[in-house]
Amino acid sequence: MKIYMTEDYQAMSRKAANILSAQIILKPNSVLGLATGSTPVGMYKQLVIWYEKGDLDFAEIKTVNLDEYVGLEPTHEQSYRHFMQEHLFDHVNINPANTNVPDGLAADPKAECDWYNQVIHRMGGIDIQVLGMGRNGHIGFNEPGDAFELETHVVDLAESTIEANARFFASRDDVPRQAMSMGIKSIMMAKKILLMVSGEDKADAVYKAFTGPVTPQVPASILQLHPYVTLVGDKAALGKLMEAK
Ligand code: GLP
Repeated sequence: MKIYMTEDYQAMSRKAANILSAQIILKPNSVLGLATGSTPVGMYKQLVIWYEKGDLDFAEIKTVNLDEYVGLEPTHEQSYRHFMQEHLFDHVNINPANTNVPDGLAADPKAECDWYNQVIHRMGGIDIQVLGMGRNGHIGFNEPGDAFELETHVVDLAESTIEANARFFASRDDVPRQAMSMGIKSIMMAKKILLMVSGEDKADAVYKAFTGPVTPQVPASILQLHPYVTLVGDKAALGKLMEAK
């Protein structure tokens, strides 16, 4: 695993954007696995800036997002489809037909997940998967205890995740209780992984994920077994791990 520790959030965002840009430039028809959350916002901003300067071309890029809340319409401010439009898709020359996010309003979420898996397989798999990490070590919405061998599936969100994400909703009661998420198996099948972490509240999860045993109790720990992981994080998030190394 390659680790880049940066001074702060901005430097982390730039480094991650560099890595993703390299992928886009070297393989213009890449399949990018994308993530939401506050962590990658700065990276998307940087990619848009480079696109506007003429340094990046998304014309042939395909994307597949990690997850979506069950029950939120694509235009809902907190839906992950909306997030992606707002932070990336609306600002670059990507073909909307090449962007994939599970449909939060699907009548049958399980069938939607099965269809989503087919989409990923039909595209030939993911070239690089961007990941953030939850404070409990979750990746995508794979919560502690979720089986490692699943592809996209419906998950019940952990109380701590509902709590952590409540800040984005009017009240805690408005946070959806379920999501559709690529499973650990889908993530592990990606050719490369770019894991981004920022802030002191992630330091323990990062430490546990990369110094402890590989266990479903810490979903990100599985990444120890992936052959091509790049971890990019700021000092606050990586400090504890780097001291141990
Ligand atoms: C959510 C998302 C994850 C994300 C995590 C961390 O639970 N499903 O993909 O990594 O939040 O979010 P943040 O980057 O805001 O800390």
